[in-house]
Amino acid sequence: MDAKNLLAGYKDAVEGDLRRILSRHDTLLFQAMRYSVLCGGKRFRPLLLLSAGDAFGAGLRRTLPFACAVELIHNYSLIHDDLPALDDDDYRRGRPSCHKAFGEDIALLAGDSLLTLAFEVMAAAEMPKSRLARKDQVIKEVAQLAGVEGMIGGQLLDITFSVDNAAKESLHELMLKKTGALIVASVRAGAVLGGAQRSKLESLTEYGKNVGLAFQVRDDIHDAATTRKKASLAKPNYVTVFGREKAGLLLKQSVRAALAALKTASIGSGPLQRLARQLLEPGT
Ligand code: IPE
Ligand code: IPE
Ligand code: MG
Ligand code: MG
Repeated sequence: MDAKNLLAGYKDAVEGDLRRILSRHDTLLFQAMRYSVLCGGKRFRPLLLLSAGDAFGAGLRRTLPFACAVELIHNYSLIHDDLPALDDDDYRRGRPSCHKAFGEDIALLAGDSLLTLAFEVMAAAEMPKSRLARKDQVIKEVAQLAGVEGMIGGQLLDITFSVDNAAKESLHELMLKKTGALIVASVRAGAVLGGAQRSKLESLTEYGKNVGLAFQVRDDIHDAATTRKKASLAKPNYVTVFGREKAGLLLKQSVRAALAALKTASIGSGPLQRLARQLLEPGT
């Protein structure tokens, strides 16, 4: 099967499983969780995880719970990111953000619930005894990379920066944490579940960091072209710090570096190549 069809199949599997995981209760809290998660995200991180898993023969059934978990974590981070205390964004994925639809109290708790549910889903994932060490490693890495040293650390840098003091290297550090960390966690998780050796994992980390950078630069270029965001006007990003043209170059360089990292490690994965290349194509 070609990469495009493989990725379409992965996306369907993720949508189905997320729906199942979130159908547990019909309380207001679960309604808010479903409202936020089941509404057309690109599912970029789960697709990276499943593609990396496939490249190392991990098997869809074994990797799917972890793919759903990173998407749950991503969605919790978006709900909290949109709250008035952070970006104060009224819209997400083209419709009212969670706190606009359900109120700040429920949105806060829906985010908390998605984060804890993610770890429940990973802990409950079935795994043969001989592979339990891989599962432990993945849970630990996801916790670290989504946490203070990763995504949360990036969010902290994001709120303490302004365009005036944003040195270019610091902007990279911010983005590598804010956006890159969960992307790196996703790529590594798939590969760890498949038993990838250390040198391949290092190359995949390099791939993940570059994909993360490219992803964020692209998002910033896209945001700069639209005026719907309040926060993007004041916050440092690749377009405000580097300018539109340089940001475009950086995007291309990062995608090239991501593909080179795969090549160095002889990882000939069509889906991983496609997920990086797609970042150069126009679209949302
Ligand atoms: C948006 O993430 C926030 C960033 C970290 C840049 P996505 O662009 O992956 O959002 P969805 O999930 O597809 O809506
Ligand atoms: C969101 O970053 C990153 C996280 C939630 C970790 P942004 O604030 O830049 O993304 P958008 O523009 O709201 O999607
Ligand atoms: Mg933000
Ligand atoms: Mg935001």
